[in-house]
Amino acid sequence: MRTLDGRVAIVTGTAQGIGRAIALDLAAHGASVVGVDIDGDGAEQTAAAARAGGADAVAHGFDVADGDAMRDAIEGAVARFGRLDVLCNNAYASDAAVLAGDQDVVQTSMETWDRVMAVNVRGPMLACKYAIPAMLSTAGHGSIVNISSTSAYFGDVVFVAYSASKAALQALTRSVATSHGRRGIRCNGIAPGLVATPDAQKNLDPTMFDVYRRNRLLDTVGTPDQVAAIATYLASDDAAYVTGQTFVVDGGACAHQPWYRDAALLHPELFDDDSIR
Ligand SMILES: NC(=O)c1ccc[n+]([C@@H]2O[C@H](COP(=O)([O-])OP(=O)(O)OC[C@H]3O[C@@H](n4cnc5c(N)ncnc54)[C@H](O)[C@@H]3O)[C@@H](O)[C@H]2O)c1
Repeated sequence: MRTLDGRVAIVTGTAQGIGRAIALDLAAHGASVVGVDIDGDGAEQTAAAARAGGADAVAHGFDVADGDAMRDAIEGAVARFGRLDVLCNNAYASDAAVLAGDQDVVQTSMETWDRVMAVNVRGPMLACKYAIPAMLSTAGHGSIVNISSTSAYFGDVVFVAYSASKAALQALTRSVATSHGRRGIRCNGIAPGLVATPDAQKNLDPTMFDVYRRNRLLDTVGTPDQVAAIATYLASDDAAYVTGQTFVVDGGACAHQPWYRDAALLHPELFDDDSIR
């Protein structure tokens, strides 16, 4: 992996989970990191961990749907570090009340829909809007990484707003890559499947992990570090010829036919693992 020495990154949702792992991995590869989270104390703890590892890191506490705060944070990053190279839009509307209210299309309130869209789509759009001119005027290039989800690809009985927002984020990714590629901006995404963050392990029904495990190709659950490794790759010059793509990181759950498990009926010799049935 090429170093990110001298590069400056802004990452959202850094207080915990995947965002924390991305901030620390970028820092471990040499970048200076500006972390943003609605949980300012948590973001500061992540920044402190990055500093303890020898990196330069600062944190801000604000809602990514707040355009003025996002503009100020990007201007502050340039004032503090002299440049901006990387933006990672990772925060999502993870508030428990919003997640509980995100049901099917009939039951979901407009308040829930608007909040999910504000954080998951408006937030990344605002960050791109302010970061791209800052990247071009200081570094002369930039790499944007948007954290989507495999929920963008499938229908589900719940999470109508979340799924639509993550599909919109993939469309935003392609639009930014298209409009600003010639100017030196790369824009890619990552669509994780289930990742065992501390919150996911705490909040999700254990049956959910079992369902996912039986429907992936790899008999393992993803970790935040595995997503962070792809984000750091996309941020780096190793991915200099990669743009407009969203990388699925899901242990192969999206790679097979929906009736994959039924293949055990036709080819029992290939499925000696009882857990698949
Ligand atoms: N964990 C998974 O299984 C999984 C699967 C697919 C996609 N993802 C995506 O990965 C990303 C990170 O997910 P995670 O599981 O690490 O989440 P998480 O809940 O552990 O962390 C989310 C972070 O975002 C912050 N946040 C919430 N609303 C915010 C706002 N309005 N402004 C600023 N910060 C805000 C939270 O405080 C928190 O620190 C999200 O985009 C999510 O959609 C996660």
